[in-house]
Amino acid sequence: MTNLVAHWDRRAESYDATPGNSLSPEQAAAWGALLAEVYPVHTGRLLDIGCGTGTYSLLIAELGFDVHGVDTSERMVERARAKALERGAGPGVSFSTLPAQDISGQYDAVFSRNVLWTVADPGRLAETVREHTTESAVWIAVETMWDGHPRGDFREAGKDLPGFGGWHPNVLRDVFTRHGFARTTWSSISNRPDLATQDRDVHVLFRVSR
Ligand SMILES: C[S@@+](CC[C@H](N)C(=O)[O-])C[C@H]1O[C@@H](n2cnc3c(N)ncnc32)[C@H](O)[C@@H]1O
Repeated sequence: MTNLVAHWDRRAESYDATPGNSLSPEQAAAWGALLAEVYPVHTGRLLDIGCGTGTYSLLIAELGFDVHGVDTSERMVERARAKALERGAGPGVSFSTLPAQDISGQYDAVFSRNVLWTVADPGRLAETVREHTTESAVWIAVETMWDGHPRGDFREAGKDLPGFGGWHPNVLRDVFTRHGFARTTWSSISNRPDLATQDRDVHVLFRVSR
């Protein structure tokens, strides 16, 4: 765990150069339109789990939600806060350095992107989310599946991650179902230049609800 936090801390500075984190204005608009379509309502409190540098937290706040991003990496959270300030985001966007399993309060909606492959037990995370969300909450989880092997410091930090390389979408759907989210569906968002997913990886969007 500590190794993983150190890994994401190290990655924070250059993280915005990774695919999907340096969105063009057109790509940001396409993501905004997609998320506006998949969330049934756009108000209330939304939790962004493993928010990284806040790229998607800020985008989602523009839909109308009050967004709280949490991340175990302090460096990621520092960058997210700096980005929010730079963009003039109001009090409706906030960030905490916090493991998702330690969240408190109730949320009306949840977002996560490329986080479930980084946790040892996504079922446990789903249980936490269930405990801290309203009955009608929708969790949009975006995940990637790729043909990769742990490299660099991931060789050590990632060796105990059962989801390295990404979970098969059906496996993850079953995990959600078993842990309190019976109405879970997924669809591919691969190969969409408008969403910056035009690489060789498989990109999936889950819509998770009770
Ligand atoms: C691959 S990055 C994704 C960041 C961002 N969501 C994005 O789409 O670019 C995974 C992030 O999840 C964070 N993370 C991993 N496990 C976490 C946990 N249990 N609670 C909160 N954050 C976590 C990491 O620190 C890292 O910033």
